[in-house]
Amino acid sequence: MTTALITGSTAGIGAAFARRLAADGHDLVLVARDTQRLQEQATELHDRHGIEAEVVTADLAEEDGISSVEKRLGDRRRPVDLLVNNAGFGNKGRFLEVSMADELRMLKVHCEAVLRLTAAATAPMRDRGRGGVVNVASVAAFVPRGTYGASKAWVVQFTQGAARDLAGTGVRLMALCPGFVRTEFHERAGMGTDNIPGWMWLDADKLVSSALADLARGKALSVPDPRYKALMGVVKLAPRGLLGGVSSRAGRKYGPK
Ligand SMILES: NC(=O)c1ccc[n+]([C@@H]2O[C@H](COP(=O)([O-])OP(=O)(O)OC[C@H]3O[C@@H](n4cnc5c(N)ncnc54)[C@H](OP(=O)(O)O)[C@@H]3O)[C@@H](O)[C@H]2O)c1
Repeated sequence: MTTALITGSTAGIGAAFARRLAADGHDLVLVARDTQRLQEQATELHDRHGIEAEVVTADLAEEDGISSVEKRLGDRRRPVDLLVNNAGFGNKGRFLEVSMADELRMLKVHCEAVLRLTAAATAPMRDRGRGGVVNVASVAAFVPRGTYGASKAWVVQFTQGAARDLAGTGVRLMALCPGFVRTEFHERAGMGTDNIPGWMWLDADKLVSSALADLARGKALSVPDPRYKALMGVVKLAPRGLLGGVSSRAGRKYGPK
């Protein structure tokens, strides 16, 4: 029996990871801020799949939250075999419209927490000679898109670099770069989505299936779905100025506060 720890497990992509990993028979450590929602999720997954699901309430924008998850990952009596650093959010507004406190909160959750939790998980994994980490980034990592895109670019670069550094140890790291996925993300960030064409939306369960298949293949970067693979090919060739214009508009229609 193996154990997976998923941050941001209660909604969207994290919940899809939890469903799939529980169905595959993995015990789970579920991490988010809303304790009641975590407990309901743990009970449901235990009852449905017969796995053990533990709950850790943690705000990864806070020191205490990050250190409590680090502590769980470093507990060598209860090893974690797969870490999914998934918790994340969008801020409502463009640069200078978002408060500096919110910008820094994003860097804490998307970068500092990912760095520290990856280190806390991979040190014991390296000693055991096996383990995996999926860091959820975004295709926004490849286009100019404010602090969000910049933080996800950091996740991609960091993960690919760490994957290389740990090559040969039995520990696999992979940055997962989804396109638009129907989750609570856009509503929470107050983003209107009516200017995003239907074909651009991905299904969270299918995304997770592709991600886990890519991890099993040993990929350090996963861009699931042929539509986004093709789009990322175009992005590589497109002039940065044009790219910035398009990406700064797509999915960034902010409604009233
Ligand atoms: N949806 C998309 O189109 C899309 C595309 C590309 C990448 N992504 C990335 O995918 C990841 C998951 O996003 P999603 O779309 O599934 O979002 P979501 O549906 O809004 O779910 C976010 C999850 O993260 C948790 N969370 C948020 N802030 C947290 C914090 N400070 N500390 C701990 N947990 C926190 C939430 O639970 P609590 O509120 O209870 O803490 C929830 O479980 C994010 O990293 C996002 O950037 C999303």
